Amino acid sequence: MTNVPEPFLKRDAIAIDNAKYPDQAVGVPFVDDQKISLRNVNVFYGDKQAIFDVNVDIARNEVIAMIGPSGCGKSTLLRSINRMNDTVESCKVSGELMLDGVDIYASKMDPVSLRARVGMVFQKPNPFPKTIYDNVAYGPRLHGLAGRRAELDEIVETSLIRAGLWTEVRDRLGEPGTGLSGGQQQRLCIARAIAISPEVILMDEPCSALDPIATAKIEELIAELSQNYTIAIVTHSMQQAARVSSRTAYFHLGHLIEVNDTEKVFTAPEHELTEAYITGRFG
Ligand SMILES: Nc1ncnc2c1ncn2[C@@H]1O[C@H](COP(=O)(O)OP(=O)(O)O)[C@@H](O)[C@H]1O
Ligand SMILES: [Mg+2]
Repeated sequence: MTNVPEPFLKRDAIAIDNAKYPDQAVGVPFVDDQKISLRNVNVFYGDKQAIFDVNVDIARNEVIAMIGPSGCGKSTLLRSINRMNDTVESCKVSGELMLDGVDIYASKMDPVSLRARVGMVFQKPNPFPKTIYDNVAYGPRLHGLAGRRAELDEIVETSLIRAGLWTEVRDRLGEPGTGLSGGQQQRLCIARAIAISPEVILMDEPCSALDPIATAKIEELIAELSQNYTIAIVTHSMQQAARVSSRTAYFHLGHLIEVNDTEKVFTAPEHELTEAYITGRFG
C-alpha cells in the first residue's frame, strides 16, 4: 500500500547512541475493535527475558506487521499468542493475553482449540508427509468439522481456492504435498491453516524462503484473507510490511518501541529507534 520513498532510505543516519526505550510504545498501540489485546506481557526463556512489558491491541480483520532486528522477540511474541511457546520447557509468559476478551492462558482454555482459532504459518513451508488433499483435510478431520466425505471435499476445495492454489493442484490432490514448489507448499500450508476456519492467522516471515513471484502471490493472498481474518505478520522486509499491512509494530531488543499506521512508520516515524532501523542504521 505504501511505497517507501528512496530519498528517505538514503537519508543520513541519525544518532541513536542516546536513544531511550519508551516506557510504552509510542504511536497508536490500542484500537477500539480489539480481536487480540496484550497487556504487560513479559516472556522469559529461563532467566533471560525476551519480551518486556508489551502493551498492544490487534484489531479485528486488520493486518498488522511486526518488524525489528533479528533477535528482538518478534517470533517469541507471535508464538505467545497461540501458546506455541507452551512446548518450550524454559519459556514463561506473564501478563494478560486476550482473544475476544477471553484469557488465552486461562486454565479452561484448551491449547488445541486455541490453535484452531489462531492458526500459524511458519518461515519454512512445512507440509505434512501426506497427500495435498490430506494436508488440507488434516485439521477438519482432527476437529471433526466434516461428517461426510463430500463435506470434507468441499472444505478442501474451498480452502485451496482461498489459498490461491486450487487451479494448480486440482488434478493432483493425491500427490505428496512435499512435491510442490516452495511457493506452492507455503500456499498449501496457508490452505491447511484456513481449512479449520481460524479467526486469526499468525505468519512468521512466511515469504523469507520464497522467490519474488511466489512472494507476490502470498502478499496478494494476505490482502484477500484480511477481509475475513485478523492477521499478524512478522517480516524482515520493510517493503513487504509497507505493501500488506495497515499498522506496523517496531520491536527493539524485546521492547515494543512504536506502533503506528504503516505509512507513518515508513515516512515519519515517531521514535528515533524506529527511524534508525528503517533508514538502515542497524538490523
Ligand atoms: N527456544 C529458545 N530458548 C532460549 N532462548 C530463545 C529461544 N527462542 C528464542 N530465544 C531468544 O529470545 C530472543 C528473541 O528471539 P526471537 O523471538 O526468535 O526473535 P526474532 O523472531 O525477532 O528474531 C533472542 O535473544 C533469542 O535468542
Ligand atoms: Mg523470528
